Amino acid sequence: MTSLHIQDVSRSFGDVTALAGVSLEIRQGEFFALLGPSGCGKTTLLRILAGFESPDGGRVTLDGADLLALPPHRRPVNLMFQSYALFPHMTVAKNVAYGLERERLGRAEVRRRVHDVLETVGLTAEAGRRPHRLSGGQRQRVALARAIVKRPRVLLLDEPLSALDKKVRAEMQLELKRLQNEVGITFVVVTHDQEEAMSLADRIAVFKEGRVEQIDAPVTLYERPGTPFVADFVGANNLFTGTAGEGGVDVPGIGLLPCDADVAPGTPVLLAVRPEKVRIGEGGRLSGVVVDVSFYGGVSHVSVGVEGRSGPVLVATQGATRVTSGSPVSLGWAAGDAVLIAQ
Ligand SMILES: Nc1ncnc2c1ncn2[C@@H]1O[C@H](COP(=O)(O)OP(=O)(O)OP(=O)(O)O)[C@@H](O)[C@H]1O
Ligand SMILES: [Mg+2]
Repeated sequence: MTSLHIQDVSRSFGDVTALAGVSLEIRQGEFFALLGPSGCGKTTLLRILAGFESPDGGRVTLDGADLLALPPHRRPVNLMFQSYALFPHMTVAKNVAYGLERERLGRAEVRRRVHDVLETVGLTAEAGRRPHRLSGGQRQRVALARAIVKRPRVLLLDEPLSALDKKVRAEMQLELKRLQNEVGITFVVVTHDQEEAMSLADRIAVFKEGRVEQIDAPVTLYERPGTPFVADFVGANNLFTGTAGEGGVDVPGIGLLPCDADVAPGTPVLLAVRPEKVRIGEGGRLSGVVVDVSFYGGVSHVSVGVEGRSGPVLVATQGATRVTSGSPVSLGWAAGDAVLIAQ
């Protein structure tokens, strides 16, 4: 079932095109991520959905009803800003209650809902504290509690975890997922961190310069990128420009590289191979010299300089690797592990 239907939405600011005709369908209860580099229009789209910005053109419906016709406070949508501002002089409970009190709900009802939501985000013990006595992760939880206590149908989150350090961020990612599951609200999360988008979302829309490049589940996006931009932006990739040949891709200066080519010979293509699919060993199609080995605990990253190619080929191996800088190596991969992308 489609919940939020965004059709051909555009918005310019003077000469800058922030959104150039964006169409998306977000399902009821879905955890949906908008992913893209800085300035590609993510915040602008959220602000349009929340009603703080008007599009130049396009339509947005929520369960079939025109969303754009409603003023911001009448929309069943809540936006958690890129920098969430808590009221410093109010306790956690007051911060969360604030939006409900403005809706003139009864005091008992407000108290009950604040209590329930603080329990959901694990802040019952901190209800009486002021924000400056909370950790970054706890403040984040208050902001989330404040956003969900009004029970929006859609919760829009703009870079919700960007202020947190890596460890707290990882914890909060799990927390966000659990929360979304529990409250059943449709979440639309903006991030420019592709790992975060992949770990959180049911589906991801990749944006580039105000346009949607690809919408897919994380695994599909990773394994079958549909455009050169997505192949490069989502995860590390080794990209080779060439033309489709018999049983592979002909790369100038390098030769025929393995790939299950399903396009007409001679077609210009990009060949993409993930670092974890590249094998170091005998009989590979590429030969080169190791220029760097970095050990990251669970994996090692090996950079290999290959003649005829400007940047190194990246290889990721499980655990520690035996190769060392300066060693000549041969690289290969299974044809089925390489992806062909039309140029
Ligand atoms: N009010 C405004 N006036 C002028 N230009 C704007 C305004 N709001 C956004 N822009 C421009 O529109 C483009 C898209 O901005 P937006 O904030 O949507 O990007 P973003 O994808 O959220 O980026 P970031 O990841 O840096 O937050 C940018 O070039 C930005 O400078
Ligand atoms: Mg932004």
